[in-house]
Amino acid sequence: MAHKEEQEYHKITRNTRIIAVGNQKGGVGKTTIAVHLAAALGERGRKCLVWDLDVNCGSTRHLGIPDGLNVLGTFEVLTGAESAQEVIVRPGDLDGVTLPKNVELLPAHVKLEGLDRVLAARNSFVASPDLLIAPLESLRGQYDYILLDTAPNLTTPTIAAYKAAAYFLLVTTPESFAIDGLNNAMKYVANAREAGNRALRLMGVVVGKVPGRGTRLSSELLDYVDRTFAGGDAFMQPYKTTINASTVIPSVQKDGRTLFDTDPEHKIAWQFRALASEVEKRFEQLEAATGKEDKSNRVGPAEDVRNG
Ligand SMILES: Nc1ncnc2c1ncn2[C@@H]1O[C@H](COP(=O)(O)OP(=O)(O)OP(=O)(O)O)[C@@H](O)[C@H]1O
Ligand SMILES: [Mg+2]
Repeated sequence: MAHKEEQEYHKITRNTRIIAVGNQKGGVGKTTIAVHLAAALGERGRKCLVWDLDVNCGSTRHLGIPDGLNVLGTFEVLTGAESAQEVIVRPGDLDGVTLPKNVELLPAHVKLEGLDRVLAARNSFVASPDLLIAPLESLRGQYDYILLDTAPNLTTPTIAAYKAAAYFLLVTTPESFAIDGLNNAMKYVANAREAGNRALRLMGVVVGKVPGRGTRLSSELLDYVDRTFAGGDAFMQPYKTTINASTVIPSVQKDGRTLFDTDPEHKIAWQFRALASEVEKRFEQLEAATGKEDKSNRVGPAEDVRNG
């Protein structure tokens, strides 16, 4: 892109969609889906931020930052020591860390464990559940999507994510959905709404780790997921695109890479592309239906953007 044109492009105020990616159940694929969905949206030209809110640093590791590296991130932002802007990891910021195209990261570090102790000792008018509201507001307009990768338990950053997000994306596996159903997810969305985030809404369910197509277990469980939503709000429905189980996922995750980087033609990379397309289509319909979208605030057609 020519320099002038690029400058103009960066002036665009983006219609920032803030999504809490969640499930109170551990290991269902929240982190995998937050990171790969961001990479797939990034490939479509959308600028994305993955914000790691988990003390286990899942998305930070997934995006290639090793545990030992003492990066500033969520802890500093939530304790007010740094602005979100200051600690975001952008391409070229860290040696050996290659982020997916158009994806930036607000990392977590294990020191996040000490957050509650630090918060209890400080004098602040901001209640813990509200800690993410102002930092997210400060980023509004800079990203098309902010994906909040939450922990499987109701830690302070996870509660804050539910309180500040506009959308909740439920990630589940067929098995865990069969066991837990929608109850927990709906309960926490309802709690966040009661606690003051009246705008929070479920924007759909992504079913991941689906056993190979054609297995009886797989189709029975997927039927069950579909039946649960039959006749419900169109925007709550599971996405048609499901993500298969494959050993390639733990393998890339362990290496701190994404499939878009290691094996972009892999079937699962294409599933994530299809999911990204479906998510965008659903947002367009959702925003048209609720009339919430400010047309002057819209991003142009998908095209290349450069981070930073
Ligand atoms: N589609 C998949 N196929 C196979 N393995 C997967 C798939 N998705 C995720 N996994 C693996 O399952 C494990 C849990 O995934 P992930 O970390 O994304 O879940 P999570 O919900 O974020 O977990 P936590 O609740 O601990 O944060 C990881 O080892 C990951 O590599
Ligand atoms: Mg995780």
